[in-house]
Amino acid sequence: MSRIGFIGTGHIAAPMVRFLAAKGHDIAVTERNKRISADLKADLDVTVGSPQTVIDTTDIVFLCLRPQMAPNILELLTFRPDQKIVSVMAAISTDQLCSLCAPASDFVRTIPLGFIQQGGCPLAAFGDDALLADLFEPENPVVRVADEAALNAHFAVCAMIPGILDLMATGSDWLTQKTGDADAAEFYTTQLLSGFLATMPADREGRLAEERDALATEGTLSLQMTQALKAGKAHAALLAALTKICKRLET
Ligand SMILES: NC(=O)c1ccc[n+]([C@@H]2O[C@H](COP(=O)([O-])OP(=O)(O)OC[C@H]3O[C@@H](n4cnc5c(N)ncnc54)[C@H](OP(=O)(O)O)[C@@H]3O)[C@@H](O)[C@H]2O)c1
Repeated sequence: MSRIGFIGTGHIAAPMVRFLAAKGHDIAVTERNKRISADLKADLDVTVGSPQTVIDTTDIVFLCLRPQMAPNILELLTFRPDQKIVSVMAAISTDQLCSLCAPASDFVRTIPLGFIQQGGCPLAAFGDDALLADLFEPENPVVRVADEAALNAHFAVCAMIPGILDLMATGSDWLTQKTGDADAAEFYTTQLLSGFLATMPADREGRLAEERDALATEGTLSLQMTQALKAGKAHAALLAALTKICKRLET
């Protein structure tokens, strides 16, 4: 079992702490956010300390700060050469991490989502992906990427989740207007998509198109939907958004 520290105990740190604590690791977290760190201490008996104490008492350190505040916080801290660093921070490059966390030199950047705690969260990873695999597989599969440009592209695809949820909310609201039952409309819309995806294997390239084409055959309502979305430039809007988000991460 490893000694694992978290710098920044916010929305994304908490589910990772819960997952890793359940695996038996020793966890130390920073005090802020006070409510979250107090809950983790009460539920899991994690240690709560200052950022420097967390670093000094652990071997693997997760950096879970907001990118805009991270440099100011990290440059005041002292890391060890043998320490392994996992950064979940968008827009802080490995080069920046190397200078902020020197003399530590073992880094992996990744993109977790809250459901990592339950498993099934794919972890795009640039750097020491074997470290992530040791910590999170088999429940959460690690997807190794070749460079930081590819990692940024994966960050952009993560932003599709709220985009697609927004589309689903529009569909659910439309259904509510037709039926007058908002709870049932939201349940139906959500369960329809989650049930479909839960049974769809994601084992190889081409599966998404195959599943789409199996539904959207000649004369079907499904084909009417895919064609209407394409004609309405939904795909063009998605591609433009992905490109812009990626560019924003590169600057
Ligand atoms: N949320 C996600 O789903 C998600 C997914 C993938 C990656 N990320 C990345 O994860 C990082 C954190 O995101 P988040 O959503 O977890 O943000 P968050 O909830 O705001 O967490 C940031 C944490 O840092 C703490 N903090 C602020 N100043 C600090 C200091 N001086 N020393 C120690 N801790 C300090 C904050 O405490 P206070 O609340 O007390 O200010 C807060 O608990 C970001 O870089 C983001 O890009 C997030």
